[in-house]
Amino acid sequence: MDNSPVVAQADPSLPSDTQENALLVGTAVSSDSPGKERVGSDFDRQMMQRCLELARRALGRTSPNPLVGAVVVKDGEIVGEGFHPRAGEPHAEVFALRAAGVGARGATIYVSLEPCNHYGRTPPCSEGLIAAGVAKVVVGMVDPNPLVAGAGIARLRGAGIEVLVGVEEAACRQLNEGFVHRILHKRPMGILKYAMTLDGKIATSSGHSAWVTSQDSRSEVHQLRSSCDAVIVGGNTVRQDNPYLTSHQVGGHNPLRVVMSRHLNLPENAHLWETASVGTLVLTEVGANPNFQEMLLKHGVEVVELASLTPDQAMDYLYKRGFCSVLWECGGTLAASAIAQGAVQKVLAFIAPKIIGGSNAPTPVGDLGFTTMTQALSLERVRWRVIGVDCLVEGYLRQKSE
Ligand SMILES: NC(=O)c1ccc[n+]([C@@H]2O[C@H](COP(=O)([O-])OP(=O)(O)OC[C@H]3O[C@@H](n4cnc5c(N)ncnc54)[C@H](OP(=O)(O)O)[C@@H]3O)[C@@H](O)[C@H]2O)c1
Repeated sequence: MDNSPVVAQADPSLPSDTQENALLVGTAVSSDSPGKERVGSDFDRQMMQRCLELARRALGRTSPNPLVGAVVVKDGEIVGEGFHPRAGEPHAEVFALRAAGVGARGATIYVSLEPCNHYGRTPPCSEGLIAAGVAKVVVGMVDPNPLVAGAGIARLRGAGIEVLVGVEEAACRQLNEGFVHRILHKRPMGILKYAMTLDGKIATSSGHSAWVTSQDSRSEVHQLRSSCDAVIVGGNTVRQDNPYLTSHQVGGHNPLRVVMSRHLNLPENAHLWETASVGTLVLTEVGANPNFQEMLLKHGVEVVELASLTPDQAMDYLYKRGFCSVLWECGGTLAASAIAQGAVQKVLAFIAPKIIGGSNAPTPVGDLGFTTMTQALSLERVRWRVIGVDCLVEGYLRQKSE
C-alpha cells in the first residue's frame, strides 16, 4: 500500500474520491450538524478532510486499530502526509513527520484521532510530536480507548503545544464507528445488509435470489465488504446461493468469509471453500459432522466449534480475533437471531423496484416475537439514497444500553 508522502500545495477543492469514499462508509463530507458550532477555520476543516481521505486508503486493513490520517502544514503548505496502514506498523503521525522532516519544526499537524500516549506495539506519538518540535496539533476526535482518552492531548498541552480538538469530529467518528463500538462495547459493530424487492422479499419462494438489485447496488455492496473485517452468512444461504462474498476488487481488501452452520450439512463444492486468495471460517457446534470438518480443513477452511452457536458468541469470537466491523449478509432466520441478540447496530436495506410476490418467499428479518407496532425497532440517523434504480435506506438500531 502506498504510504509515500505527498508533498503538495494545499488545494481548497476536495479530491473527487472523497465523495465516493463517503458513500462507502456513510461518512458525510461535512460533519457540521445543525445547532453544533463549527470547530476550526475552513482551512482546518479542509486539512482534516484530507486526513480522512488519507485514512481511508487503509479501509478494512487496520483492525483492531482505527483508521487514522495525518497532515503536517507549514506556512499554509502541506509538507508531509501519512496514514496508519495496519496494526503493528507506525501510526499516521509517524509517517507524516517522517515526510515533513525538519519542516515539522514549528509546524501544525492535523490528525484525525488523538495521538496516543502509551507504549503499545509502537512508541507514543505524543512524544514523537514533542520531539519533532511541532507548534500546534489539530485533533479530529478524542480517542475512546481508555489507554488514551485525553491523555495524549494532556501530554501535548503539558509540553506547551497548542492543541485544538473536535475539527470535523462527526466525520472522524463515523469513519471509525466500528473501532469506537469495539472499544466501548467489546464487540465488533454489526452491520445487517440485505437486498429486497418492493414487496419485501429477499428471494423467490423457491429460494432464488440472483439478483434482487441492480449492478450499481451490488457494486456498492462490494465496496462495503472491502471496508469490513468479516462477512457472515448462515448455512442455508450457502446451500441456496453458493455465494463468493468477495469484494470483487483488484487489489482490494476482502473480509474474512464466515459461515454459521449447526449441523454442517453443507455442499461439498461451494465457492466459499475456495480459499487460495480469500479466507473462510466456519463456525459450528461442538462435534458437528467430523467428516465434513476434515474436508473443510483440507481445503484450507478454518473451522471453529463454539460451545453455543449464537450470533452473540460469534461476535464475541470475532472481537477476540481483533475485528471492528462485521457485515451480516445472511437470510431472515439468522438476521432475526442477530438482531434479537444485539449483534446488529446498523442496517443497510437495498430496495429494488421489483415485485416478486409469494406468500412463502423469504423476508429480510424472521420472527422477532413482536405482536404490536409499538414493539417495532425504529432506526435512527436514517439516510435515504438512490443507487441506480434502487433505493438504499441506512440507519442505526438503538442499543439497549443507550
Ligand atoms: N437478498 C438478500 O439480501 C439475501 C441475503 C442472504 C440470503 N438471502 C436468501 O435468504 C434465504 C436463506 O435465508 P435463511 O434465513 O433460511 O438462511 P441463513 O441466512 O442461511 O440462516 C439460517 C441458517 O443459519 C444457520 N445458523 C447457525 N446458527 C444459527 C442461529 N443461532 N440462529 C439461526 N440460524 C443459525 C443455520 O444453518 P444450518 O442449517 O446449516 O445449521 C440456519 O439454517 C435464501 O433463499 C437466500 O437466497 C437473500
